[in-house]
Amino acid sequence: MDPLKLREATADLHAQTEEGVPLMKPDLTLTEYVSVLQRFYRAVAAWENWAETHVPEQWRAMFEQRRRSRLLLDDFHALGVTSDEDSWGEVPFPVLETDASFLGAMYVVEGSTLGGQYIARHVEEVLNFTPGVGDAYFRGYGESTGAMWKEFRTVVTTIDDADSDQVIDGARKMFGMFARCLKEGRTVDAWAGARP
Ligand code: HEM
Repeated sequence: MDPLKLREATADLHAQTEEGVPLMKPDLTLTEYVSVLQRFYRAVAAWENWAETHVPEQWRAMFEQRRRSRLLLDDFHALGVTSDEDSWGEVPFPVLETDASFLGAMYVVEGSTLGGQYIARHVEEVLNFTPGVGDAYFRGYGESTGAMWKEFRTVVTTIDDADSDQVIDGARKMFGMFARCLKEGRTVDAWAGARP
């Protein structure tokens, strides 16, 4: 499957997701940032918990190497906040029945590392972060981001064209799960906003 097809078939959902995340605002506040980070954690943790038991064996090593929820925990620690987990309702994980749809879902998580590079630079400037402290999740693979993305796209090319609809279906469902988490997360009004 041509990975460009996947981009085209999900461009509408990417645009919606990007619009729903206020991270690139020039006047982004720390409180807003933390709120978004907590919502991301809910989505990424739901993905990793589910993927752990559903990843096709052929991609287990790739999945393990690419887990990033712990970076969000590092960010919470750096910013002196908690993950907000106690207030979560359950996130119904979308049904993905085939290997191809699993890869489609993983595409969403992996592709988000690309926008993450722009987000990291922006929040470092606006919130005056030391690079990687408080934005470790968005920094993600850092300088290896391009190489990691290239490697992932190569795996997508191994999928038979006949299965491309399943890949697209998995990706669209995953964007939907992310959108839901990003919309439903609580704000952190109660948080005083002080860093240690
Ligand atoms: C403010 C939020 C976001 C911004 C500014 C943003 C921006 C971008 C940019 C600039 C790219 C292309 C980078 C390149 O080609 O080098 C990209 C790719 C991508 N982003 Fe985002 N993004 C955001 C949020 C997200 C989120 C939350 C997700 C997933 C839930 C996501 C999923 C993806 C995917 C899958 C791609 C790869 C597209 C492809 O196939 O080439 N993005 N993003």
